[in-house]
Amino acid sequence: MAGVIHVSSTQIPVAFMSATKQSFRRASVIRCAANTPKKRYTIAVLPGDGVGNEVIPVAVDVLCLAGSLEGIDFSFEELPIGGVALDLVGVPLPKETLIRAKQSDALLLGAVGWPKWDNNPKHLKPITALLQLRAALQVFDEPSFFCEYPFDLRFQNPKKTNQSFLPEMAAALQTNIRTVKVPATFRAVSKQSLAPFRVRCAVASPGKKRYTITLLPGDGIGPEVVSIAKNVLQQAGSLEGVEFNFHEMPIGGAALDLVGVPLPEETISAAKESDAVLLGAIGGYKWDNNEKHLRPEKGLLQIRAALKVFANLRPATVLPQLVDASTLKREVAEGVDLMVVRELTGGIYFGEPRGIKTNENGEEVGFNTEVYAAHEIDRIARVAFETARKRRGKLCSVDKANVLEASILWRKRVTALASEYPDVELSHMYVDNAAMQLVRDPKQFDTIVTNNIFGDILSDEASMITGSIGMLPSASLSDSGPGLFEPIHGSAPDIAGQDKANPLATILSAAMLLKYGLGEEKAAKRIEDAVLVALNNGFRTGDIYSAGTKLVGCKEMGEEVLKSVDSQVPASV
Ligand code: IPM
Ligand code: MG
Repeated sequence: MAGVIHVSSTQIPVAFMSATKQSFRRASVIRCAANTPKKRYTIAVLPGDGVGNEVIPVAVDVLCLAGSLEGIDFSFEELPIGGVALDLVGVPLPKETLIRAKQSDALLLGAVGWPKWDNNPKHLKPITALLQLRAALQVFDEPSFFCEYPFDLRFQNPKKTNQSFLPEMAAALQTNIRTVKVPATFRAVSKQSLAPFRVRCAVASPGKKRYTITLLPGDGIGPEVVSIAKNVLQQAGSLEGVEFNFHEMPIGGAALDLVGVPLPEETISAAKESDAVLLGAIGGYKWDNNEKHLRPEKGLLQIRAALKVFANLRPATVLPQLVDASTLKREVAEGVDLMVVRELTGGIYFGEPRGIKTNENGEEVGFNTEVYAAHEIDRIARVAFETARKRRGKLCSVDKANVLEASILWRKRVTALASEYPDVELSHMYVDNAAMQLVRDPKQFDTIVTNNIFGDILSDEASMITGSIGMLPSASLSDSGPGLFEPIHGSAPDIAGQDKANPLATILSAAMLLKYGLGEEKAAKRIEDAVLVALNNGFRTGDIYSAGTKLVGCKEMGEEVLKSVDSQVPASV
């Protein structure tokens, strides 16, 4: 073997944590020698704050060891950054740190920030150093040049400051490893009849309630799943004395093909005049290269804006029947029941200025604006507090208040409203941490409230905990006027028209339409129960299939749900 490794010399002294300015200037240089070094690199080591001091020495050891086996010799130079630099020299990113970082071949950074400095003005916050450093180094390709330790638990566990987080980190990293395989207990199901079901409310009778529903099937799998949800809606309604008039209107790619725009005026008027809107999905490869204003997605954003549906409720519940469809370990996924309340008509999706322009160097620049007015934050926060109140009374507001002004205001307004909801326990979390906590320990969440773009991302993440994005419905509500109900999945053009889609998310969206849109809770419950019965009977579409269950297509799954609704005893007819 090439070298004798002097690992004993690689520990970084943490002395500069309590060091004076002078000792910082004599920052320690640590060498890790191999016997026959061929290459030599200088690494700037920035442990920073909190757990940074625990994990960086370990990483340095590993780096030395790996390097020595390949004939690489490192010089490590330890430099202060973040809170430790603030305490030392009064700024989070000292000039010396920056100069030496620039002179090095690569940087290894631990973590910055600690509650101690949370109330500092922005330019004196530890995190500002990180942003300044990234900007100064123009780091675009972080992993190859600039390695940060991404673990943000320190904000959640300030009491654990001095303990090692490594076991917890290991646990977090292992969340995707399925160790327990629970045998499926569903009975085998024989092939069922494909005959369509009679819809009991086909004939209008006086004294019944009647609602007008605009159906927007859209593109891809949208038409398949909406037609099934429509039948289920009708069937469940008929058992509760509720009747519907359905108006089907074009949106997205279907509308582009028909009339050249993704959201025709007629669709907007019909939607506004109805009691509720049920949407399938929009988008497809065919329109992917269209100009921005002629993309199907534009139709979706426009209808949300036109109906002013600012509050988007996205539940993620792990059904006991589907625990094994989750990519998370059973003990992590089992019992998860959370609700993401996403702001839907503001933020970076709609903020101005936005665009792509050419700057003074002749280079193209793309830009968007994350903007929230106080009233927009207040109204979504109220919906979230109310939602949490009806659930388990816990609300977690997710933002990026350590970096973004829009988030600083968000946190301020949400905090101010908390006094009106003393029965709701409010907490705050940065979005990067929330993304991690969702896969680490999703059961800690009850209700999450967040802005448009974070809600888009986190709700997709939350959906996977439940096994499939094909299971999750959503409701988008305004102050008054019709709500918009849609599955959170997309148009899945790869399986469109093949009878492979999971219609349950749209069926459950129809249940949300009844519950939140029309106040028809009994009919909603019938649909929810029918979905559970179909699952209990072992029926699964491909996305939620597991061994021992019965694989069915979109239509057959719809028929099973319809059958379950049909077999329920009418409660009020
Ligand atoms: C969603 C979708 C949409 C969004 C797209 C299709 C515009 O991802 O509803 O989550 O980003 O809001
Ligand atoms: Mg999305």
